[in-house]
Amino acid sequence: MDLIPYSRQSIIKEDISMIEKVMESDFLTQGPKVPEFEEQLKNYFNVEYAVACSSGTSALHIAYAGIGINQKSLGIVPAITFAATANALRYEGANVQFCDVEPETGLISIESLEECLAKVPEEQLEQKNLIAPVSFAGSVPDLKSCRKLADKKNFFTVEDASHSPGAWYENKSGERTYSLSGVDTHASTLSFHPVKHLCCGEGGALLTNHSEIANKAENLRSHGIHRPNNETDERPWFYEQINLGWNYRLTDIQAALGISQIKRLDHFLEKRRHLAEKYETILNQEPFSNFIRTPEFHEGNAWHLYIIQFLDKELRDAAYKFFKQNNILTQVHYIPVYKHPYYRNLMGEIKLPGAEKYFERCLSIPLFPDLTEEKQKRVIHTLEKFLSHK
Ligand SMILES: Cc1ncc(COP(=O)(O)O)c(C=O)c1O
Repeated sequence: MDLIPYSRQSIIKEDISMIEKVMESDFLTQGPKVPEFEEQLKNYFNVEYAVACSSGTSALHIAYAGIGINQKSLGIVPAITFAATANALRYEGANVQFCDVEPETGLISIESLEECLAKVPEEQLEQKNLIAPVSFAGSVPDLKSCRKLADKKNFFTVEDASHSPGAWYENKSGERTYSLSGVDTHASTLSFHPVKHLCCGEGGALLTNHSEIANKAENLRSHGIHRPNNETDERPWFYEQINLGWNYRLTDIQAALGISQIKRLDHFLEKRRHLAEKYETILNQEPFSNFIRTPEFHEGNAWHLYIIQFLDKELRDAAYKFFKQNNILTQVHYIPVYKHPYYRNLMGEIKLPGAEKYFERCLSIPLFPDLTEEKQKRVIHTLEKFLSHK
């Protein structure tokens, strides 16, 4: 029986031939493919600036650093996310505060955010601070409310959109918020890890409509080096390092793969939505509906992950093992970040009720564009077999 992962890349001949062309060209890195990819990201997401970089983590880091986050800053992060959303604040020495999530969706709780912001001491408000809502699993949180609350306290808003290219959210008055559009946020970040919508092997990007953030982030991506436009100067070779940056560059090989992949992003989204719809229809029927809850189904979900919720932790853990015995890999997204030893040592014991509840019952079952109908049926039948013993 083939192994079915919870997610994987989709690679076709065109992707490989794009990479081959770069391999035969003059530039493996710092060549024309990175700006070409950035241009396509700008066009697809309708933003003014895109800065491609080496990972989703480095995208978060240059976004935060580009805003000016520093040792005196505070960053509010939802507890259910991949640790990088918080870690990138720590790279700049900033303090992290974890905010609770909605127990049904894992998305940032606006109520908890309001409480976190209300507790921020007056003197902290003089610093550069931010909130980093995560468009988790392909669902966009209420970014408009996040932004309103943030603005009242002069906080920046950076959306971690690693899971949500192509996603949108509609509030009660019918207003839509698109992930990565830079309309309700100061910046958004993407990851091009193979389990994500677009694959570059490794890679990431910062998207923003703010020139200052984009320029600083672009400078930091490549050591903090500035090259004046000095073709006509007597020193055309001149460059200087003006900030302490990093080598967070995306290579041209990776960018070529990104260019090839973005052409199929609509197709990937369609496939993910189709598979999610199938799960939604079947898993809401008995016997499944006696033991699990399916994720909220709405048109704007980009379906990075399909996360079901079991009645309790014991059932979830037993399901994980049963799937594994049947060569199906599932995953828990996520352990609340404050539970990791690094954060426990830093901040002590924290328990947020929404995050705890979400974490204990969640399990991501396979969902990716190349998941065949036959394999999806195998996932569903395996779950049915597991539940039949309960
Ligand atoms: C929500 C979220 N943020 C950030 C990252 C970091 O991205 P990368 O692995 O490309 O560094 C990930 C990757 O798993 C993620 O899921």
